[in-house]
Amino acid sequence: MLKVAVLVSGGGTNLQAILDAIDEGRITNAQVDVVISNNPGAYALERAKGHGIEALCISPKDYESRAAFNEAFLAKLDSYQVDLVVLAGFLVVIPEQMIARYRNRIINIHPSLIPSFCGKGFYGLKVHEAALGYGVKVSGATVHFVEADVDAGAIVMQRAGSVEDGDTPESLQARVLKAEHEILPLCVKLLCEGRVAKEGRKVYIR
Ligand code: GRF
Repeated sequence: MLKVAVLVSGGGTNLQAILDAIDEGRITNAQVDVVISNNPGAYALERAKGHGIEALCISPKDYESRAAFNEAFLAKLDSYQVDLVVLAGFLVVIPEQMIARYRNRIINIHPSLIPSFCGKGFYGLKVHEAALGYGVKVSGATVHFVEADVDAGAIVMQRAGSVEDGDTPESLQARVLKAEHEILPLCVKLLCEGRVAKEGRKVYIR
């Protein structure tokens, strides 16, 4: 059974999608061992506790320096000895030491078709406001490996969806979120089954 950590900052609907996939037997060889948030009020933590999963908060605000936080954060994650780390709406930049230690074992879900509307500052509704402001006809969701540059790691999977006339950032967000809930658990499943091969920036599903 592979061990997964899910890192969250907010509501945790993507976390829920992973838990549902496990409960419903779509993911058979993985378990979520720990859910970590930087936000003590994140509803995602309640979802985890409701599932009997260890849920904890570690916030940069509680440390004297970023370096001290980064060290404690890495030590905390390491203590769970997980095989895969899933960023599911986690709004903290991942420390470089963590990326180095977990390279090709950390994925993130982003609510646009990368490389559009991604990178620093593109989170939450801002992503969808930017997509609508640009006038794109399709948007969607991307699962990618995490590298030091924000949202710039190799793409594992994308799911496109139409932008409709009259869409608001909220309506587009809701449509894209459905795509997120499909591809994130699927990527977790494929990774845990060893069916994801990466050669440079190219990722192949076997
Ligand atoms: C999602 O849109 C995800 O793509 C982004 O943050 C949001 C988190 O939503 N990174 P939730 O907490 O999973 O509901």
